[in-house]
Amino acid sequence: MKIVETARKWVIDRMGLGRLAESLLYRRVAKSPWYQGDGTALLLLVGVQVVTGAFMTLIYSTSPDRAFQSVEYITRIQPMGWFIRGLHYWSAGITMVMLAVHLFRQIMLAGYKSPREGTWFVGLGLMVGLVVMSFTGYVLRWDERAVYAIRVALNMFYRVPWIGEELVLLVQGGPSLSSHTLSRFYSVHVVFTPMLLVALVGYHLYLVVLYGTTSMLERQGPVHSAEHQKELYGEQKESEQLGEPFFPKTMADTGIMALAVFLVPLAFTLVIGPRELGTQANLTSVAFPAEEWWYAWYSGLIALFPGWLAPIFFVAFPAGILLLLVLLPLLDRGPYRGYKHRPVFATAALLAFASILFLSDLRARSPWTAWPSNDPPPVPHGIKLTAEVEKGRQLFVKYGCNSCHAVAGFGRKVGPDLAGHDRSLSADEIQGFILRPPAHSSMPSYEGRMSKEDLERVTSFVHVTQALFHAK
Ligand code: HEC
Repeated sequence: MKIVETARKWVIDRMGLGRLAESLLYRRVAKSPWYQGDGTALLLLVGVQVVTGAFMTLIYSTSPDRAFQSVEYITRIQPMGWFIRGLHYWSAGITMVMLAVHLFRQIMLAGYKSPREGTWFVGLGLMVGLVVMSFTGYVLRWDERAVYAIRVALNMFYRVPWIGEELVLLVQGGPSLSSHTLSRFYSVHVVFTPMLLVALVGYHLYLVVLYGTTSMLERQGPVHSAEHQKELYGEQKESEQLGEPFFPKTMADTGIMALAVFLVPLAFTLVIGPRELGTQANLTSVAFPAEEWWYAWYSGLIALFPGWLAPIFFVAFPAGILLLLVLLPLLDRGPYRGYKHRPVFATAALLAFASILFLSDLRARSPWTAWPSNDPPPVPHGIKLTAEVEKGRQLFVKYGCNSCHAVAGFGRKVGPDLAGHDRSLSADEIQGFILRPPAHSSMPSYEGRMSKEDLERVTSFVHVTQALFHAK
């Protein structure tokens, strides 16, 4: 057995494992409550996405003609492909949920206070990275919703002051949507952002190892400075009752929570399977917007605003929230960390969390903001439309007009109600809008994407309903 012992020592020495284990595993940390495992859960979920994503790159094709088919191939033909894609999708969703939980906990316990500001900033970087991942991943499915999503994003970039136009060219890879666009989204999803995320995750964990997480003693009383915090933390981690060894105690506790969380995407994958695909994207048709469920609250929020304000709010809100989070360590400067001593911040965090749940629910149930509806706008009772106008009513759905416009109060309110009481447009004016909407509006131009007959039909439908509803 001497040889085994010698070999063990040799490996530990030559691979530098002694130092590593000493500084990572065999250290004492402040004892932490069970919910501390939310970070570990995030780590596990992201790891799952790296592995499942890597497998999908074996088949995925970045050519716009074949991207959609390759995703279908993964889903229907490749053995275990549905499982890989399903796990990737559901892990992404639960990652967003855990991100919200993690953020919520850090605000409740002032995880951004000294000396942990760096951990907080790097964490915010990770959050942005994960949002980029979720958006670019959505586009890679390359179904009709993907193209709509790109248009929404380009619209957002276009509004960025000074460099808007250049940004659009950069993201699009040229003056219009093309195969370059898809390649760009792919590279950003598979190479650029993951590289950044790996670096940031490493840095985040390094800072967590260095400064720990908000401990019991810090929560109880005032902490006056970074030095004071370090004293308190040191005291707690060495204490018999308040401290514990990271390995195996903390690791096991947080690991169990991570595994428990992981059961959720696993179960969803097995029961529901991967996200269903829409029909294949073609770069010229406009489809319905359908955000992923984890952004439903955001659409719900946007829909509460009047149409003219929504596009501005759409960009300003995330920017404002991010700025607020970056400034949080400056705004919340009191000596206390526990939520009981910081009622304002704790209440704000609770309200924000509750609003997310409330808005998601609203979005899922209300007709004005429901998942894309395939119901054409109603016709007033007892009225019979001519065949052409009736076709126009159906086309209203096909071209996605109903994803933005209500007709006489029925439907969504992103754009103006086309049979609203203050509206009375001539057929020419209506056609003008459809072909060349004003540059500042979020309405896509249908020029070259609608046959002349369809244009006439849609126009006559809008025109006729306007008259009908006004007459009533
Ligand atoms: C992405 C959302 C969106 C889609 C899809 C959309 N529109 Fe619009 N539309 C708007 C917005 C926003 C305006 C307001 C433009 C402005 O004046 O700034 C508008 C304006 C209009 C107007 C002028 C209304 C008025 O009273 O001022 C008409 C007519 C119109 N759209 C018809 C259509 C038709 C027909 C379709 C489908 C072929 C369609 N739109 C698809 C967002 C959309």
